[in-house]
Amino acid sequence: MNEPILSIRGLTKTYAARGGGGGTWALDSVDLDINPGEIFALLGPNGAGKTTLIGAVCGLVRPTGGTITAFGHNLAKDWRSARARIGLVPQELATDMFESVWRAVAFSQGLFGKPYDAARLEEILRGLSLWDKKDAQIRELSGGMKRRVLIAKALAHEPELLFLDEPTAGVDVELRKGMWEQIAALKERGVTIILTTHYIEEAEEMADRVGIIQGGRILMVDEKRAMMERLGTTEAVIDLAAPLADIPAALAGFALELSEGGTRLTYRGGNGEGKGRAEVAQLAQALTRAGIAFTSLDIHDSSLEDIFVGLLGKEREAA
Ligand SMILES: Nc1ncnc2c1ncn2[C@@H]1O[C@H](COP(=O)(O)OP(=O)(O)OP(=O)(O)O)[C@@H](O)[C@H]1O
Ligand SMILES: [Mg+2]
Repeated sequence: MNEPILSIRGLTKTYAARGGGGGTWALDSVDLDINPGEIFALLGPNGAGKTTLIGAVCGLVRPTGGTITAFGHNLAKDWRSARARIGLVPQELATDMFESVWRAVAFSQGLFGKPYDAARLEEILRGLSLWDKKDAQIRELSGGMKRRVLIAKALAHEPELLFLDEPTAGVDVELRKGMWEQIAALKERGVTIILTTHYIEEAEEMADRVGIIQGGRILMVDEKRAMMERLGTTEAVIDLAAPLADIPAALAGFALELSEGGTRLTYRGGNGEGKGRAEVAQLAQALTRAGIAFTSLDIHDSSLEDIFVGLLGKEREAA
């Protein structure tokens, strides 16, 4: 295994309360390692601490405690050498509204000493469907277009470690897919990417690993596939031709629920590795053997979203 490109230990941030007194624990002893070349998705509800975490690494938030090491440099002591290698597409727009799109993106390209490369800028702007807006002032763009300008700026700068804080918020579905392609292309070029998103399917689509954060604490970090296999379940909804009074003994071995006046059986179970689907196949055979006719059988594997919502729910109950 390679050395992590970014290593966070015991990172804590409390924002002082107005007028003194106990502040907000935005980050509570966060440990996190990011591997070179991966796409890491940080998921969490509003106020979980995602932007604070990113801000701490990007020098926008002063940590209360802990250490951040990027490219082998302790950022608190040696910020300058890492800075040019880290890029950020912030959640909030903070870019000169009177600048033209072209100039804003070209400026980012030159910011850390990259040579001006008009062909690359054109490629980026075309890839984000911004080419026909290249001479427009940023204030003249729609919200989704402005977000795409931020992405264009990050692509032009081409850092080795790139933070995308909700890169596709407010971008329509079709363009979002285009942005996913751009982000995938960056990964191909070897860029390490950390993104936050509220569109969990975005993490499901792109991430190699997923971290779940709530209340400033990291609840879980894992390979996305492993997480989905370990925590994923299968649900099957079976509509019956005739109502049942009870679940028959022949089906006692399956995790079933009877509803809709006895006309619907719902199966939930089978953590990972296709176990649920295999059980549903056995269930269908058992139904046929028992002479229970059904009119439809819908099978659905839980998504990352289901896992995420379930995990946060459990955490809330425990709290
Ligand atoms: N500048 C600030 N001053 C005081 N408190 C802050 C400040 N910035 C963030 N917080 C608080 O820190 C906590 C974490 O906020 P943060 O912006 O990191 O959350 P987030 O996970 O990015 O949320 P979202 O999904 O809404 O963007 C919240 O309770 C928030 O109110
Ligand atoms: Mg945020």
